[in-house]
Amino acid sequence: QELLLEQSNLVFIGMPSSGKTTIANEVCTKLKREVIDIDAQIVERIQMPIAKYFELHGEAAFREIETQVTKELANSHHVVISCGGGIVKNYENIKNLQHNGFLIYIDRDIDQLLSDPSRPLSSSKEAIQQLYDTRAPLYESYSDVTITNHDTLVVAVDQAIATYT
Ligand code: S3P
Repeated sequence: QELLLEQSNLVFIGMPSSGKTTIANEVCTKLKREVIDIDAQIVERIQMPIAKYFELHGEAAFREIETQVTKELANSHHVVISCGGGIVKNYENIKNLQHNGFLIYIDRDIDQLLSDPSRPLSSSKEAIQQLYDTRAPLYESYSDVTITNHDTLVVAVDQAIATYT
């Protein structure tokens, strides 16, 4: 069990602005692992900001690239992966990530989730509420564990590390 976990990827899922990227970066520094940010991988491929890509090509085209990336990550090991909030929209992504991954859901109070005009699907409070209602059950059921990010970064990072050590 311990050896398996040691080789597993640590995969962070959760709502936009729940702290996935920040926590993943901290965890990888502490554990001396490589970090892979799926959104950053996509931006590298599309060569433009995600919002721009949504505008030009639509969400479905974005989701295809996202799934291509999760497919490529299925056979990686020992890395820390930070996902875009919509990763749970396509179950194929979850299967790819679960292939060699331990999935950690970062739960953050809805009042602490920030709307952001540069995030096409979470640009307003109402949009966030709607995403939360449909996605919270998916994050819950697809993850191996849930940690909370209601307090400080340090508390969240310690919880993340404690889940598998
Ligand atoms: C999305 C969240 C974004 C990004 C894209 C779609 C979503 O990532 O993948 O804009 O569907 O919630 P963050 O969760 O990092 O904002």
